[in-house]
Amino acid sequence: MSVDATFASLLEYVEAELGFATSHYNTSYLNRRVSSRMRRTGSDSYEEYFELLRNETAEQRALLDSLSINVTGFFRNPDVWEGIRDVLRRLTAENESIHVWSAACADGREPYSLSMLAHDDDEIDASNVHILATDISESALETARSGTYTESRTVDLGDQLAFLSEYEEYVDHDPAAQTYQVTSTVAENVTFERHDLINDGPKSGFDLVICRNLFIYIDNEHKQSMLETIARSLRSGGYLVIGKAETIPPNVKSAFDVRKGRLRIYQRDAVSSERTN
Ligand SMILES: C[S@@+](CC[C@H](N)C(=O)[O-])C[C@H]1O[C@@H](n2cnc3c(N)ncnc32)[C@H](O)[C@@H]1O
Repeated sequence: MSVDATFASLLEYVEAELGFATSHYNTSYLNRRVSSRMRRTGSDSYEEYFELLRNETAEQRALLDSLSINVTGFFRNPDVWEGIRDVLRRLTAENESIHVWSAACADGREPYSLSMLAHDDDEIDASNVHILATDISESALETARSGTYTESRTVDLGDQLAFLSEYEEYVDHDPAAQTYQVTSTVAENVTFERHDLINDGPKSGFDLVICRNLFIYIDNEHKQSMLETIARSLRSGGYLVIGKAETIPPNVKSAFDVRKGRLRIYQRDAVSSERTN
């Protein structure tokens, strides 16, 4: 079998047997992740790696972890968080309770940032903010549920949290262990659940959906159906925030009005909500 054909069979195997929809992701992205696992396992060819993958459950788990790349941070892109603050303030002024979906939440730092912001801002009533946080990756969700994050040479958690001037209120910092544990007050607003934005259906009635830094890995032709799933999950007039480097495909654009273009903040208009429902 040629190299390309072996790689293609490997991807088909991952989709059919391991349940990760490789056909939706960029080939270059998939190649980078598989090659990285090949280096780690000392496999010299796709064939050799494919053989290993078929026989070892531990490697299947490792590849799935690697495919669901979960680079994230507290208050990633601080300027966007100022935009999210404005949206939460507006929603607080207009609604008794606010339902937010942090889709593709990785290890939970994004939904916990939302909860911290809600608690920190006097114009937002945190007791009315309910956050559902989902991801495809069970191991990311495991860390998310634990709410404990470890500092490393390359990750300065204090620096990330410094978006809030008094962040110490929301985390218990253990300098010896270099860990930050999210307080129970912050954790109480967040519920975690596994959800695959490709294979699982839409949700409903959300006032705000934040889905950032996943679409960059997705093939153009598949972005549309994922965004439709999100559009259906928003109530009419609900807000959407995507990643700063991401765009809404032309066919779905009409479902949204641009609120802050540079920050990728959109609002679902009433007319299009009838259209897509
Ligand atoms: C780069 S992280 C983004 C995390 C966070 N939203 C942020 O911007 O910091 C991408 C996340 O998407 C998740 N993911 C990948 N494919 C997914 C899918 N089909 N459905 C849901 N989540 C997915 C990965 O597991 C990973 O945690």
